[in-house]
Amino acid sequence: MQQIIDDIAAQMASKTDKGKVASYIPQLAQVAPEQFAITVALPDGAIYSAGCAKTLFSIQSISKVFTLTLALGKLGERLWNRVGREPSGDPFNSIVQLEHENGKPRNPFINAGAITVADIILQGHQPKETLAEILQFMRFVANDDTISIDEKVARSELETGDRNASLAHFMASFGHFENPVDSVLGTYFHHCSIAMNTIQLATAGLFLANDGVNPTTGYRVVSPKRAKRINSLMLMCGHYDGSGEFAFRVGLPGKSGVGGGIMAVAPGKASIAVWAPGLDPIGNSKLGTQALELLARKTGWSVFGQ
Ligand code: DON
Repeated sequence: MQQIIDDIAAQMASKTDKGKVASYIPQLAQVAPEQFAITVALPDGAIYSAGCAKTLFSIQSISKVFTLTLALGKLGERLWNRVGREPSGDPFNSIVQLEHENGKPRNPFINAGAITVADIILQGHQPKETLAEILQFMRFVANDDTISIDEKVARSELETGDRNASLAHFMASFGHFENPVDSVLGTYFHHCSIAMNTIQLATAGLFLANDGVNPTTGYRVVSPKRAKRINSLMLMCGHYDGSGEFAFRVGLPGKSGVGGGIMAVAPGKASIAVWAPGLDPIGNSKLGTQALELLARKTGWSVFGQ
């Protein structure tokens, strides 16, 4: 495994087209594009890394997998009254479907869906309490108490968050929100601004690769059925309007973030985190996807077969 990922890291270092770092969140535009990291965490506890696997980056939309997990823990199946579970085929920050579909987002991973999930998790609490709960959950699944929120990124998102504010106010206009829009948005921006490295992120995803149990701690996080369903949502919706392409090329459930991270799950086999800040035009990590495509090919881990 070490040989495989060293080889992938070397191949990625030689690529000239590394994509473009996200610029609509000014703080993310400052990240150096040539960085690359990959970590593969196995259910037996073995961890393999290549590149700058200890460098923290903004996990952005990858956090939506964990807020969904928390929301399912609170509402169970009732969550699906508020959020759909179909691919959107539209960009992550699109507003168009929301009007036709009466303010019910297509899935929990597009921004509108994740903002709705933030409203569910808030449940009458103050954003500070809810953020503490989200952080505590991230630390629990990653087995690492140092994980925190990058306040600079959160502020940067808040200052430039007109699109997300539009989505939230539009949904609130249908009477769907239980909390003030500003509290919901504050919670959403802050959980997107959690900073992690690939070692922490690969460890955090292990429960999804291991029928709901995190093997590093032995704790059950979700039932096997729920782990399977979260994986299926990641496969169908984790890369927005690039989800089909990601399934075609990589063949693993995965969730991307505009910070350039991708968390991917090979059920029963491994949890993988990659980070390469340059994005493709859809907003998914360009080299991160290429690295996962190579890894899936070399390991035969695609859920669709060798
Ligand atoms: O709301 C936003 O636009 C960002 N906080 C998250 C978007 C994101 O990560 C899209 N993923 N590729």
